[in-house]
Amino acid sequence: MEETKEEIKARLPVEDVVGDYIELKRAGRSLKGRSPWGVDKTPSFMVSPEKGIWHDFSANKGGDIFTFIMEVEGISFREALEKLAARAGVELKKYGGDDKKIAQRKVRAREALELSTKYYQFALSKNQEVCKYVFYKRNMNKATVKEFRIGYSPRSGRALTKFLATKNYRQAELSDAGLLNQYGGDLFRGRMMVPFIDTNGVVIGFTARVLDKSEPKYLNTPETLLFNKSRFIFGLYQAKPAIREKNYVVIVEGNMDVISSHQAGVKTAVATSGTAMTEQHLKILSRLTSDVRLAYDGDEAGLRATERAINMAGALGISLSVISDYHGCKDPDELIQKDAKLWQDAVEHYKPAVDFLLERYEEKLNLNTAGGKKEYSDVAMRLISYLTDPVEKKHYEQLVAKRLDVTVEDLKAKKLPSPRPKRFKQVKTERPSAEQIAYNKMKDSLLSIQLFGGAAGAKLNYEIPSDETKLDELNMIFETKYGKYDERTLAKEAEELSARYDKIVKRMKVEELTAELAEVEDDEEKTNEILREIKQLQNV
Ligand code: GTP
Ligand code: MN
Repeated sequence: MEETKEEIKARLPVEDVVGDYIELKRAGRSLKGRSPWGVDKTPSFMVSPEKGIWHDFSANKGGDIFTFIMEVEGISFREALEKLAARAGVELKKYGGDDKKIAQRKVRAREALELSTKYYQFALSKNQEVCKYVFYKRNMNKATVKEFRIGYSPRSGRALTKFLATKNYRQAELSDAGLLNQYGGDLFRGRMMVPFIDTNGVVIGFTARVLDKSEPKYLNTPETLLFNKSRFIFGLYQAKPAIREKNYVVIVEGNMDVISSHQAGVKTAVATSGTAMTEQHLKILSRLTSDVRLAYDGDEAGLRATERAINMAGALGISLSVISDYHGCKDPDELIQKDAKLWQDAVEHYKPAVDFLLERYEEKLNLNTAGGKKEYSDVAMRLISYLTDPVEKKHYEQLVAKRLDVTVEDLKAKKLPSPRPKRFKQVKTERPSAEQIAYNKMKDSLLSIQLFGGAAGAKLNYEIPSDETKLDELNMIFETKYGKYDERTLAKEAEELSARYDKIVKRMKVEELTAELAEVEDDEEKTNEILREIKQLQNV
């Protein structure tokens, strides 16, 4: 268990995990943001990438990535572990630590998926109607159908399941492969089948499209031992050589856009399947190239996705741009159907993502009014805050200032609107009282001085926690709060804090004893004992 935890921690930087919920900005060796519990007036949430920990100075909570997810999602440790393990691509040993068993299940699932792919390919070749859809309606050519291994899932309820049973696959194995519906029959029926192929060329799942207008349009393999949607990049297996050669990647929205793009000769196209782009997606791509071009919809959702991507790209050293001219078509696929040449040109006419968004906002807002100017400067400064390169930052500050006919100083004097928490769920657990928080804060401060405050700490004698993460956290608290104190000031602080803390502890004990008193009303001896204790506490 410890090992698994450590492996997950090694794979998921704390700033990435936290960064999904809070906007973080660099502050020296740490990163800083606003408390997700909405209790701070100024940013009080700190993350230490080096130590892999976080601490919220206003809510006085802290810990590692697991405690963060527990707190912010309001879930149990086990649930947080499962969530982060899935994200890290680390397997949890659910069945008594039997790694071999899992490896074996994966092998069987892969084999079942490979056989299914072949089965679906065969079924397509036998079905005229579906061939018409694939070759004429979607305009795929034979080479494309072969390269992307397009197929068809027959309409009858158990066609694939029965076929795989004859090949000695058990239901549990098909379930591992993500091929079954809740009744144990075929998940995919009467759909055009597009395999999810991983970067080793292995089929790990499918996306399946209806041939008519029925719903849902697409059905995807659920998360399985093999398929993890926040890591999988559709088309990357086919696109990798081109991305390396051309040194850029185009991210489109739909899987069908990827296929069309490849057929149109733009083989650098990929898509995230059935999910918004994650940091993991970008990280994987950043290993191949730093020139990432987004070809998203120009709608609100597309703009938001672009802004999210800018926020993620900065830290990865990615230069992000946007391809936006679809000549009035709704997506790259439609543009390609109109004229493949238009798409080939489009991918060469890209614009830095920040410029693109600023232009969209300029169009949307009336910059002749005070309100319009304010809103524009709000979003502009938010965008600029995502940038990590100081020269780039300056460039945009000057640009925006000029646009608004103000000085850069005016812009910087703006108080940034607090960032919208992204996927933040209100924690349902009971909130600690203000007093409880104050008490915990003091205790942490005292412990931090005791441990790291040298001579000033030597006089303190509180019980030291044994948890290593907690010790790292205390170290961060010390550096942040007291790092600049000289020894005398620190000693004075320790003394005062300790006196206040002891007083609170005493009061809380008295309260506790008083509550106990109410419960033992009949027992005279006990009552007297408690009263004695209370008196003693009050006298000291
Ligand atoms: P076509 O209509 O076949 O051209 O699809 P598209 O690729 O243009 O799809 P669209 O722009 O409607 O959606 C983009 C992406 O969102 C798709 O590639 C899917 O990954 C996903 N998507 C769209 N509809 C559904 C759906 O009904 N279910 C799921 N799970 N995903 C969908
Ligand atoms: Mn489309």
